[in-house]
Amino acid sequence: MKTQVLDEHQIDIAAAILKDGGVVGIPTETVYGLAADALNGEAVAKIFQAKGRPMDNPLIVHVAAFDDIERFRLVREIPDSAKLLAKAFWPGPLTMIMKRTDVIPSEVSAGLDTVAIRFPSHPVAQAVIRAADTPLAAPSANLSGSPSPTTARHVLNDMDGRIDAVLDGGASAVGVESTVITLATEVPCVLRPGGITVEELREVLGEVEVDDAVLHRLAEGAVAASPGMKYKHYAPKANVLLIKGSDEAYIDYVNAHAADDVCALCCDEDLLLLRTKTVSLGRRNDYLTHARHLFDCLRRIDENKTIRTVYSRLPSTEGVGLAVYNRLIRAAGFEVIDLETV
Ligand code: TXA
Ligand code: MG
Repeated sequence: MKTQVLDEHQIDIAAAILKDGGVVGIPTETVYGLAADALNGEAVAKIFQAKGRPMDNPLIVHVAAFDDIERFRLVREIPDSAKLLAKAFWPGPLTMIMKRTDVIPSEVSAGLDTVAIRFPSHPVAQAVIRAADTPLAAPSANLSGSPSPTTARHVLNDMDGRIDAVLDGGASAVGVESTVITLATEVPCVLRPGGITVEELREVLGEVEVDDAVLHRLAEGAVAASPGMKYKHYAPKANVLLIKGSDEAYIDYVNAHAADDVCALCCDEDLLLLRTKTVSLGRRNDYLTHARHLFDCLRRIDENKTIRTVYSRLPSTEGVGLAVYNRLIRAAGFEVIDLETV
């Protein structure tokens, strides 16, 4: 299969492929998605095949308006909390989980009685959903386990020859996947942190829990509230090591371990002080920029085939920092070198 590269004037071609049961890489403001008609189980099954994704990991259904939820009868009932969150954050990087109807194919829900729904803000994503005239199921458009794609080139690197087309809509502005919140529990609970912060969600809803799996390794044999959380994720091929300690301690530690196969994933302010290869996430404490650059940095590290070890500071858990923390701690397999206690 040859993968066509489409530009934003070719949305009608992408929509025709999707209506026909094909798979298309589409831009969103978070990361690129691998889209298929969410109401066509056979089409959705092709996504799992292209990604090498385990079938027990459910997909997000993307709509082009809040009213699409009712129009396509995706959920049994829209809770008031969903209306409040949609008013505050949609379109945007927030995914809401609600009780699903039988309209949702089992390939999408992976056997759960819920469905995850998102209304993306990217104009090309909205246009292609509207043109296809159906909700689109779409996971991130990377091979299962590798960093999510934030450009059409990233999608091609992973998916060339495995999908029908990729629609180029420029680099993703948020850079990490959407915040996932479940509204199907008594107290709303964040299953994955992303572009909308826990602090912002609490401002709208009051009480919001954060699932244990966001910060910690899932206990052996435990059932993940969000199946995606149990898989090793976002990892470059090199070994990622997270360093907990002051800026100075980090720089000293990395310089003491400098070698040809070592790279520091750092901040702009560290660049002149480090005596190793460096890849910078942006200015210190600019968590929005760190999020936007994170996956591109991990992919660039992979492209340099000599790098075997990556040293990064343990990110802050404040604001969008929590999303970066969540991705990096998984990339590192939850291993942290604590310079404060050694
Ligand atoms: O920003 C995003 O969310 C991107 C773009 C393309 O929209 N999509 C994305 O999809 O990141 P994916 O499949 O890579 O991640 C979806 C996460 C997975 O961890 C999955 O387990 C979880 O959401 N999820 C989906 N449906 C769920 C459900 N019904 N209950 C619990 N978790 C669910
Ligand atoms: Mg993903």
